[in-house]
Amino acid sequence: MRILAIETSCDETAAAVLQQNHDEITVLSNVTVSSSDLHAKTGGIIPEMASREQIKAIVPTVIEALLNSEGKSSGPSLSENFKQAKEILDINIDSIAVTYGPGLIGSLLVGVETAKALSFSSNKTIKPVNHLLAHIYANFIDNKIEYPFVGLIVSGGHTDLVYFESSSKYKWLGGTRDDAAGEAIDKIGRILGLSYPAGPEMEKRAKRTKSQIKFHSPLLNSDDFDFSFSGLKSEAARFVAKKQLTERLIDNICGGIQDSIFQVLVKKTIRALKLYKCNTLAIGGGVSANAKLHDMFKKSIKSENPDVNILIPKKEYSTDNAAMIGAYALMCADNVEWSKIQANPELYFD
Ligand code: KG4
Ligand code: ZN
Repeated sequence: MRILAIETSCDETAAAVLQQNHDEITVLSNVTVSSSDLHAKTGGIIPEMASREQIKAIVPTVIEALLNSEGKSSGPSLSENFKQAKEILDINIDSIAVTYGPGLIGSLLVGVETAKALSFSSNKTIKPVNHLLAHIYANFIDNKIEYPFVGLIVSGGHTDLVYFESSSKYKWLGGTRDDAAGEAIDKIGRILGLSYPAGPEMEKRAKRTKSQIKFHSPLLNSDDFDFSFSGLKSEAARFVAKKQLTERLIDNICGGIQDSIFQVLVKKTIRALKLYKCNTLAIGGGVSANAKLHDMFKKSIKSENPDVNILIPKKEYSTDNAAMIGAYALMCADNVEWSKIQANPELYFD
């Protein structure tokens, strides 16, 4: 089975081709074009601008992914690229996967409508994919995972703990009551003058300092699987308002913010693993690219639950990408008639 996957839920335009042999999933091509440089100028995403960039990038991105899957790349002639890509689609691809939610409606529509047009014109089945579940299934790329397992989604839009019993059965355990972990990092990064999105710079700054400012870890000891990070942003803003910011102080704040967010993520996830007697943890989403978060998980699991196997996707599959959409589609998604698929910006867990 070979699949073309498309992801356009936010500010990344992405397409990938994946191959499944039995339960082994291999990525043949993975192209991601980001408009984040544009959003860095405004310190955050303006949805209208993101969807305009999606429209510009979608056709070249899909063409490049199809060509790359056969070891080719785009040449100077657009019509020749198009012709070759269409041939690959017609002959080599069995099905098309696409993110249908959650996300920004204008961005989602670009991917969904493109996938529908390709499905109709090339007579391929189409598989709609929930972006959140796909972040966890990024771990199935080049990897075999046994059910059950606990999944932690930590991205710019979501923080959720989910128990996966089988490929068709999962249970949402809890999530953020307000800001997601990545959203808190980005908003606090803005207060500190970091570039958008702030995660990578915050990680770099935190790494180069030994001392850090202590902030609260919201809901650390609450008896549930909920998270809340908007208070942390206010706490950081109040702290910064009283200080003269120096490079060193910014580094120490970054260290403290990471620590306070990651402590609560680690503690609640370990509790979920114990409660559901799981020995596998699969983490996904942009924040899972952070090496300090990996270390904190590894240390805590080693001391509390040494049998647990921690899975974290490769960096290119942590932040938004289309390979994870293809992985989920190959493992779990059903075929749907193309005219029945609709973008759903509010999609969550059923
Ligand atoms: O999964 P993603 O690419 O998009 C969403 O689905 O939201 O996640 C983007 C988020 C941003 O908030 C970004 O700051 C954060 O992931 N992020 C990181 C790192 N790289 C990206 N956070 C912490 N450390 C990183 N290295
Ligand atoms: Zn995402």
